[in-house]
Amino acid sequence: MTITIRHEKPADIDTIARLTKAAFENAEHSSHTEHFIVDALRRANQLSVSSVALENAAIVGHVAISPVTLSSGATGWYGLGPISVWPEHQGRGIGSMLMNAALTDLQRLGAAGCVVLGEPGYYGRFGFKAHPGLELPGVPAEYFQATAFASELPVGIVKYHEAFDASE
Ligand SMILES: CC(C)(COP(=O)(O)OP(=O)(O)OC[C@H]1O[C@@H](n2cnc3c(N)ncnc32)[C@H](O)[C@@H]1OP(=O)(O)O)[C@@H](O)C(=O)NCCC(=O)NCCS
Repeated sequence: MTITIRHEKPADIDTIARLTKAAFENAEHSSHTEHFIVDALRRANQLSVSSVALENAAIVGHVAISPVTLSSGATGWYGLGPISVWPEHQGRGIGSMLMNAALTDLQRLGAAGCVVLGEPGYYGRFGFKAHPGLELPGVPAEYFQATAFASELPVGIVKYHEAFDASE
């Protein structure tokens, strides 16, 4: 397979929405609003990274990253997600390629680090782990993970952009 990763273009937007909706349709932990979240982040100019995976010129995956805020005042932190691969293409390494590309982009942006909410078994592969003291209220601690690029891991409460409340 030849998969390439590039940043989103305006012509990708509708496909990204359909892909995100389809990927989360049967996901175990899903609000089923993830496609609305990506659109709301874009409208709010908060898509720090939005990259697609292409195979034979067709979009097979997408990853979004947006800034988060920390109660400690620490700056330069981002949240990864949603990340989506079409169900029929899952398990082929596409998600891993998107993860690695997105984290490389973030480091190029000079980010301090990144948080993610999801399966520790998956995100642990990319250097994420849960850290006592770094908290996303309302979720089990082991599912909220972080990786620091250069700085120390901060402590405190993390807040995603209000676009994560989008429901339409
Ligand atoms: C999560 C997702 C992006 C991973 O993409 P992918 O292309 O399937 O991932 P890869 O092929 O790179 O990696 C597959 C590996 O990850 C594991 N994996 C995939 N989803 C997982 C999950 N939710 N929990 C634990 N492991 C998972 C697979 O078992 C597989 O393991 P293996 O390499 O030992 O066989 C994709 O499965 C997806 O779109 N899922 C639905 C949406 C979702 O849940 N997104 C994440 C929450 S933001």
